[in-house]
Amino acid sequence: MADPARLRSEGDINLSGRRARWQADHVDSETRAILDDDARFFFHQALSTPCLSALRACAGVFVEDLAGRRYLDFHGNFVHQVGHAHPEVVAAVAAQIDELAFCPRRYTNRTAVDLARKLVTLAPGDLGKVLLCPSGTGAIGIALKLARAATGRHKTISMWGSFHGASLDAISVGGEEIFRRGMGPLLPGAEHVPPPDPYRCAWGCHARGGCDLACARYIEYVLEQEGDVGAVVAETVRSTPVVPHPEFWRAVRSACDRHGALLILDEIPTALGRTGTMFACEQYDVVPDVVVIGKGLGGGVVPLAAVIGRPQLDVARDGALGHYTHEKSPVSCAAALATIGVIEREGLAARAYALGRLALDRLRAMMDVHPLIGDVRGIGLLLGVELVTDRVRRTRAVEEAEAVMYAALSRGLSFKVTMGNVLTLAPPLVITEQELGDALRILDESLTAVEHSGRRG
Ligand SMILES: Cc1ncc(COP(=O)(O)O)c(C=O)c1O
Repeated sequence: MADPARLRSEGDINLSGRRARWQADHVDSETRAILDDDARFFFHQALSTPCLSALRACAGVFVEDLAGRRYLDFHGNFVHQVGHAHPEVVAAVAAQIDELAFCPRRYTNRTAVDLARKLVTLAPGDLGKVLLCPSGTGAIGIALKLARAATGRHKTISMWGSFHGASLDAISVGGEEIFRRGMGPLLPGAEHVPPPDPYRCAWGCHARGGCDLACARYIEYVLEQEGDVGAVVAETVRSTPVVPHPEFWRAVRSACDRHGALLILDEIPTALGRTGTMFACEQYDVVPDVVVIGKGLGGGVVPLAAVIGRPQLDVARDGALGHYTHEKSPVSCAAALATIGVIEREGLAARAYALGRLALDRLRAMMDVHPLIGDVRGIGLLLGVELVTDRVRRTRAVEEAEAVMYAALSRGLSFKVTMGNVLTLAPPLVITEQELGDALRILDESLTAVEHSGRRG
């Protein structure tokens, strides 16, 4: 029997009784009609259809539903570093559509080249070559192929509990039960190791007062035993969030070097400022062989992802790494250039760092009044509040977390619950201090409401 928390690893489930009760109170007849049509025409799957409600607008830090209710969007699928529908991104997209709306593969275009130049300028170390594609999942697939082409090895090491996208190759390296269950056979040679998780370390490091790098040593052990691993693939910072020990990535980097494996870092939800630096790996002082970015790269307006790697990996000239119809989409590239422009000009990475510190302090203070909070953690404006029913045993408060989420939604705050019990807070980086304070007040009230209602809401 699957652990309910593992089936909720990427978000709240859509068939719960608590969701039905929330809808009974908040969904009007017009919205209900759309939800019914959505359920009629779309394939059903966990995490999307049937949906919670329907939106009619999004701007800045808010999304607005059909009934006109506004929610501070601390979910946003991690696309909204610059806020929703940023006017500069929208204008850049409109101007690009007027000039050149599409670029068939035989051709290139100035906007795409400008974006590639910008990405290699921003990227750490000597990462100097780029491939673009419309989705993060597709970009992970490209990175896996690149590793096979460059090393001649097909094996990978990745982490249990990780997410790298929903396609078969991405779920093979991914480690989430909800995506892998019933979908095999998956890619051969995709080995998995325990993730570095200071709060729930598989080796019990937390019980000894902190991570002792056992996870990094185990990765090296597997690299050595297998002897022919092509790549270690991992999220620099799990977006749950789980923030590894400062030494962790340096240890893995040198293990990869010793055993001839590439280090592929997935920063699809975390790059472009969210963690307090343009790339999360900068905070670990580590340069991967390949970094994969996406989500907010398209400014939350268009889909776009990028693989950025070392020039030495440019070895597949007569092969095919990833030919996507919208590979060098001028419109997506224009959105990305505008987005990066806003992030740089408004210093959004530094802002994420400063506001993140402020929020962490507030959340830590909440631990004194809310017994449900077992742990508070984060990096920049990627924050996690882990709810437990027992602080000593660290028992996941899955039901309570869902109840807090719906209580917060009723008060105008939207966020994701990951791993069943982690309130994952990822606001736009343009959020004001006042709006951040409002969100934390709503969270505080929602926790109180659930605690006072016998913790079940
Ligand atoms: C860490 C990570 N990798 C890959 C992906 C897949 O990106 P996309 O949904 O654009 O295919 C996601 C999406 O949530 C992600 O969070």
